[in-house]
Amino acid sequence: MSMWVPVALSRDVPAGTTLGTIVQDREIVVWREEGGALHAWEDRCPHRGMRLSRGFVRGDRLGCLYHGWRFDAGGACRLMPAHPDGRIGASARVGTFFCAEAGAVIFVSLEKDDCGPQADATAWPLRSMTLLAPVATVRSAIAAGLPDGLVVAVQQVGACETVLHATLAAEHAGLAAEMDFFLRDLRARTEAGA
Ligand code: FES
Repeated sequence: MSMWVPVALSRDVPAGTTLGTIVQDREIVVWREEGGALHAWEDRCPHRGMRLSRGFVRGDRLGCLYHGWRFDAGGACRLMPAHPDGRIGASARVGTFFCAEAGAVIFVSLEKDDCGPQADATAWPLRSMTLLAPVATVRSAIAAGLPDGLVVAVQQVGACETVLHATLAAEHAGLAAEMDFFLRDLRARTEAGA
C-alpha cells in the first residue's frame, strides 16, 4: 500500500513559499526553496514550538518567524540570530519527511517509500477543494463516477474534513470550467449527505 499522501497542487507551493497541512494526523510544513527544491518537515520549531509554516524562506533555508532560527535543507539549525557566534546543539533540528511531485500534485510520506507516488506525468492542475465530510463519504461519492479525464487525489485532514486535489488529463484541459462545476456539485452533494 502506498504511503504517499497528496497535500497540494504543485503550482500552489511556488518557490520561496510555505504551506501548512496535515498528513496522518501530523502537522506538516511543505516549503519550496527559492531554487525550486521541495521539502516536507514537522511543522514545529525545535526552539519554542512555533509553526514553521508561518516562517519565511531565504534561498535554500527556512526561517522561523518567532526568533529567526534558520534551518538548512536537511532540517539542521544553522543560525540563531540572538547567538550568532554560539555553538548550535544537535537538538536544534527539525524532523524531516519525504516529499515528491507527480502529475502536478505534491505528495508527502512519513516513511521511506522507494516506489514514489504514481500519477499521470502530463496531467494539468485544476484545483484543490475542501469538503466538510468524512473521507469515506467522499471516497464513496468519487467511486460513483467521475467525468472522463478528471483525476482526484484524496487527502484526509480531519474526521470531517477532506481535501481533493484535482487534475485533468492533458487531452481534457479545455474542459476545466465543466470539471470545476462537477467538483462544486460533488462538494454540495457530499456535504449534504455527510
Ligand atoms: S520558536 Fe522558532 S526560533 Fe524561537
